[in-house]
Amino acid sequence: MQFNLVHLFKLVTRDYFKYVKYLFIFLSLVPFLILSWQFYTEQLGINPLAYLTKVTGHLVIIFLILTLLITPLKRISSYLMTKYQLKYGKRLADWNWIIKLRRIFGLYSFYYACLHLAVYVWFDQGLEWEYIYEDILERPFIMVGVISFLILLIMAITSFKVLIKKLKKKWRKIHMSIYPLSILCLIHYWWLSKTIESELILYSILTFLLLLYRILVWTHIVRIRKDDTGMEVSTRHKVPLNHKVIF
Ligand code: HEM
Repeated sequence: MQFNLVHLFKLVTRDYFKYVKYLFIFLSLVPFLILSWQFYTEQLGINPLAYLTKVTGHLVIIFLILTLLITPLKRISSYLMTKYQLKYGKRLADWNWIIKLRRIFGLYSFYYACLHLAVYVWFDQGLEWEYIYEDILERPFIMVGVISFLILLIMAITSFKVLIKKLKKKWRKIHMSIYPLSILCLIHYWWLSKTIESELILYSILTFLLLLYRILVWTHIVRIRKDDTGMEVSTRHKVPLNHKVIF
């Protein structure tokens, strides 16, 4: 039997996606498992509170960036498959499975934000609401964090299938708040940082590029293939001559 890599890829993504999905769900949980192990074995360093705040805060941003990455990744993959004349993956629909990862990464971003918030409210402030109120007044970057958390909360609640069906077009609008959200998260991080760390610069550049991509699409500088009904179409369809770039 002839069995090549393309065949294997097709098989895994189309027929075994549920296993690929579980793999990503597990991989995204690994940082939490490591943190729990470090917590249990008291290996959180000399300042466990700072360490937990740092790691959970970074994970929120990393998962947000991964969430933003999925849509361009889907379009670029099908474009490359067409360009290099590969047998499989030329149609956008071949990459639909990748979109499901967007929801997983988004929910993990929310999950780590809950941990980040819990570390602050519980470990740092000992659930003393008066202190928390005073701290927010003293360090306004925390307020930016709270606003970001609320946006993530709304997005997480509305990501259930029942609500997606009920909200229809409104759902899309609600979930577009990921763009201001990613900027707010960076403001929170820039504001609290005393020095300019390399991670801060890296996250900012990646977020900038991913948002720039959306702006280029919205302003039609980068064109997405659409059919007469306005639906995105596969790269196998003929592209109108006036369409410049392909992602
Ligand atoms: C949901 C979006 C949020 C993101 C992406 C985020 C991200 C971060 C990041 C990256 C750090 C820096 C860690 C470091 O390198 O030291 C941080 C620190 C911190 N965050 Fe957040 N955060 C969010 C929400 C919140 C919320 C809701 C609160 C509190 C209510 C909060 C309170 C803090 C505090 C107190 C610090 C430590 C500041 C210090 O070093 O003294 N954050 N956050």
